Amino acid sequence: MKYYILFGPPGAGKGTQASAMVEKYNLRHLSTGELLRKEIAEGTELGKKAKSLIDAGALVPDEVVEGMIDNAFKTTEGVAGFLLDGFPRTIAQAEALDTMLAASGEAVTSVISIMIPDEMIKERIRHRASIEGRADDAREETINNRISTYHEKTEPLVDFYRKAGKYVEIDGTGTIEEVRQAIFNAMD
Ligand code: AP5
Ligand code: MG
Repeated sequence: MKYYILFGPPGAGKGTQASAMVEKYNLRHLSTGELLRKEIAEGTELGKKAKSLIDAGALVPDEVVEGMIDNAFKTTEGVAGFLLDGFPRTIAQAEALDTMLAASGEAVTSVISIMIPDEMIKERIRHRASIEGRADDAREETINNRISTYHEKTEPLVDFYRKAGKYVEIDGTGTIEEVRQAIFNAMD
């Protein structure tokens, strides 16, 4: 099985690019953000606990998302692998992922990182807020917290995966089609 990580700051275009990637490479898309929003929409206990953290632009606890991912890995039928979007987001999550995969003799295949500057993050999220109505896109304060959480807790993963020789960076500032082509080139 292939285990790709789609990495990048909020609004970089992970969700946008994921759909083309899963189709071309026959992967299952696993977005922890989407899984959490589904829990919130369904009003589950987990969703209730996650909501206040997500609305504040903070991360939910590592164990929560690790459990979701571990569970999703059990269904491998009909796909060539997984595309992880928004996971891992901390060094602890990356280490837990390595442990989970090693237990079945697997490993992360590569990390595709879509990079955009902070100012563009805000533009993209503002644009999406006018279309999708995501609760964590609504307030400037939440967006700023998401950006600082990214720099503080998630960006250290760049070095983590660079050292592992698995990190591929894509310029995310072009059009959706340009970024998609750059990702396909890197994956091929
Ligand atoms: P999550 O849902 O993962 O949000 P995120 O990382 O902040 O990323 P986004 O979904 O906002 O951005 P994206 O990169 O998918 O961009 P998109 O393609 O939509 O997480 C939400 C929250 O859940 C977190 O804050 C946290 O609380 C919690 N959470 C999730 N995972 C967690 C974890 N592992 N650990 C702990 N907590 C976790 O694009 C954005 C917009 O730009 C769209 O409108 C799109 O159309 C547009 N766009 C995209 N590409 C381009 C382009 N090239 N040119 C112009 N416009 C573009
Ligand atoms: Mg997304």
